[in-house]
Amino acid sequence: MSANPLFENRVESVGPWHGETRVGVKWSVYEGDALAVLKTLPEKGHNCCITSPPYYWLRNYGVDNQIGQEETVTEYVKAISDVMSQVYRVLKDDGLLFLNLGDTYYSGKGQSQGLDRKSSKRRFGLRAVDKSGGVGVGMQRKSIIGIPWRVAIEMSSNQKWVLRSAIIWHRQYCLPEPKRLDRPRRNYEHVFMFAKTRKYYFNRQPLLRRNVDEDVWTIPARPKQANGVDTAPYPDELVQRCMEIGCPEGGSVLDPFAGSGTTLRVALESGRPATGVELNPNFCHYIVKELNKT
Ligand SMILES: C[S@@+](CC[C@H](N)C(=O)[O-])C[C@H]1O[C@@H](n2cnc3c(N)ncnc32)[C@H](O)[C@@H]1O
Repeated sequence: MSANPLFENRVESVGPWHGETRVGVKWSVYEGDALAVLKTLPEKGHNCCITSPPYYWLRNYGVDNQIGQEETVTEYVKAISDVMSQVYRVLKDDGLLFLNLGDTYYSGKGQSQGLDRKSSKRRFGLRAVDKSGGVGVGMQRKSIIGIPWRVAIEMSSNQKWVLRSAIIWHRQYCLPEPKRLDRPRRNYEHVFMFAKTRKYYFNRQPLLRRNVDEDVWTIPARPKQANGVDTAPYPDELVQRCMEIGCPEGGSVLDPFAGSGTTLRVALESGRPATGVELNPNFCHYIVKELNKT
């Protein structure tokens, strides 16, 4: 809990919230739909965007206008790429976007996902889409849909993004899949590195220090515990690695799907100002509380 009584009042509002760390690094949190909020932000204001949008039909965040529950894959791809077109606008010309996406299997068993405890846990692309009407891609049941690449190709073909790397995040120690599987277990997700233009800020030194990692990053899938705020967070180290190579010191970082605020917290800890957008008011309040401690 914050010691600041003003802060306690502020978290009851719908924001936006602005603050700064003890050493004067600024942050902002906006509550609302990513597309709508980004449209209100000035262009070319951020050096780097690091984000993990909701995956397709993997979990229900329980709020209206959430992305990830679209009837068809095409609608989902459009929803993500529409947000990314605004990210493009608000990034500086030499800026980078790191977009973490996981895949989904199509099971077609005829049941929509519920809000039960089990199905609300993130299983990194393991949960099948259970929609009897299909997901609009004409695939056979049990197929992996190929969501990350569908989004990446849309962004690099129909928008101006330059897709520079398809980093594999090897999720060490991730949640186990069911024991009886008729396919290899999934141990990775994608982190696509997009540049706004062909000339952009990039620092190779951290990759050289790591010697072998380059575009396969082995990072334990153990995010910081967020006090019951279950946003399917990614680990701090993933954000650190993106920032080290893709954001200059003191450069500003954006996360339009802020969740529990991992991106913002890690950015601020490194002395970089940070801006987040999040649709779920409870998550926003959690982020603001945490950032007020930095
Ligand atoms: C995978 S989580 C992000 C987790 C985050 N990286 C973290 O470490 O906590 C995706 C987030 O997007 C939010 N979200 C869903 N639809 C949204 C929308 N239309 N605009 C903004 N946020 C949205 C969800 O509430 C959820 O918190």
